[in-house]
Amino acid sequence: MTGPVLAVDQGTSGTKALVICPERGILGTGFAAVRPRFLPGGLVEADPAELYDSVVAAGNRALAEAGEPVTALGLANQGETVLAWDPATGRPLTDALVWQDRRAEPLCAELAEHAEELRELTGLPLDPYFAAPKMAWIRRHLTTEGVVTTSDTWLVHRLTGAYVTDAATAGRTQLLDLDRTAWSPRALEVYGLSGERLPDVVDAAQEVGTTTAFGAPVPLTGLAVDQQAALLAQRITTPGGAKCTYGTGAFLLAHTGDRPRRGTSGLVSCVAWRLAGHTSYCLDGQVYTAASAVRWLTDLGVIQGAADLDPVGGSVPDSGGVTFVPALAGLAAPWWRGDLRGSLTGLGLDTGPGHLVRALCEGLAAQVAELADAAAADLGTPLDTLRVDGGLTRSALLLQTQADLLQRPVEVSALPDATALGAGALARLGATPGLGLADALPDWKPSAVHEPRIGPDEAAERRARFRAAVAALLDGAPA
Ligand code: G3P
Repeated sequence: MTGPVLAVDQGTSGTKALVICPERGILGTGFAAVRPRFLPGGLVEADPAELYDSVVAAGNRALAEAGEPVTALGLANQGETVLAWDPATGRPLTDALVWQDRRAEPLCAELAEHAEELRELTGLPLDPYFAAPKMAWIRRHLTTEGVVTTSDTWLVHRLTGAYVTDAATAGRTQLLDLDRTAWSPRALEVYGLSGERLPDVVDAAQEVGTTTAFGAPVPLTGLAVDQQAALLAQRITTPGGAKCTYGTGAFLLAHTGDRPRRGTSGLVSCVAWRLAGHTSYCLDGQVYTAASAVRWLTDLGVIQGAADLDPVGGSVPDSGGVTFVPALAGLAAPWWRGDLRGSLTGLGLDTGPGHLVRALCEGLAAQVAELADAAAADLGTPLDTLRVDGGLTRSALLLQTQADLLQRPVEVSALPDATALGAGALARLGATPGLGLADALPDWKPSAVHEPRIGPDEAAERRARFRAAVAALLDGAPA
């Protein structure tokens, strides 16, 4: 049995860290904000130094609160955020292009004839969300120097000197052969990245190096994509279950077993985690803007922040006929129209902040319900329940709306920071010879369960209204 571990979740809007003890629970927590820059033209950039500094700051805060040493470190990453950097010095050569960044759209359009081949090889549709289009864009437009990788590889290199990425993060590039979990020479060729020096693809729980960034040397033994880490922490380790994490975006993942399932419903087929050479797979659907959309409403002055969702939304009985498709950074699965932008319809002189908040919750929940239906169609069986986590799960209004539109119970993770718990479980697994996955995972008990409070007819009617709004967007824009 290992002692406490430090689990770090390096996310889009901030880095969270937990010191987790298997016997005594959470001993310390830390947070450091990250401020991506949202620029015209759908550009979203982050300062790599800020990403690294936030990892160290959040980790040190959690350690200071815990007041005791840790035996291992786990790190979860954003998945598809990329940068170029100098492997000799670790110095960034570009800003980090965040997963929400849409600048590689023309590059994807150029590669359209390879879309089906890439999807078959890698499980992913052709979209600038993934890492490879942004990596290729960097090579064409910014620099041919150094290496170009996902942000995890750079962070791990800065922490330990290792040059690695875990199989699940590699799977977010569109350069990984999904069946072999090895780099695909063909995908690299399509993207013009064949000459790149790529990191070694490693398991999610193994020692990759040692860091002194937090004081005494600590082995880094757990690596994960944030969404997959949350899937693990929600104990969805066999086919049939699904989780949704409501963070900067909202991401629904459903476990599909030990073979990739290339569905027909528009979801991504990807690696959940690779442990001791054995790969688990999942289906993944995305809502690009969840907390980002809440931040947008906040910036407009409609609310003061996410804590206002329930009091402001609760001040009115419904959305007052307002429909919000919160596709502020485009539509991902199952539509894959990242070029589209959101819509807000049904506004009247009587529309107030409460209606807008309810319309936002309804729009997010309706999108997640579409993803759940797509996962159920691909799995050939309805999802029993949906387990949820992430910062926005503090909103009972959002979760009740989710249960209503999904017509299934929504089970809420006791700790919103499931991603960090997953990274911690991997760190523990990687640091403890002979420990099984089930024993490394935290116990799972929902803090609340939201049951549907409306009937199927009303749910169908509200979802049809949302679908009609999406259809209007799809019709109104050139494909
Ligand atoms: O795919 C991007 C996603 O994993 C980022 O997660 O928590 O920063 O919204 P989050």
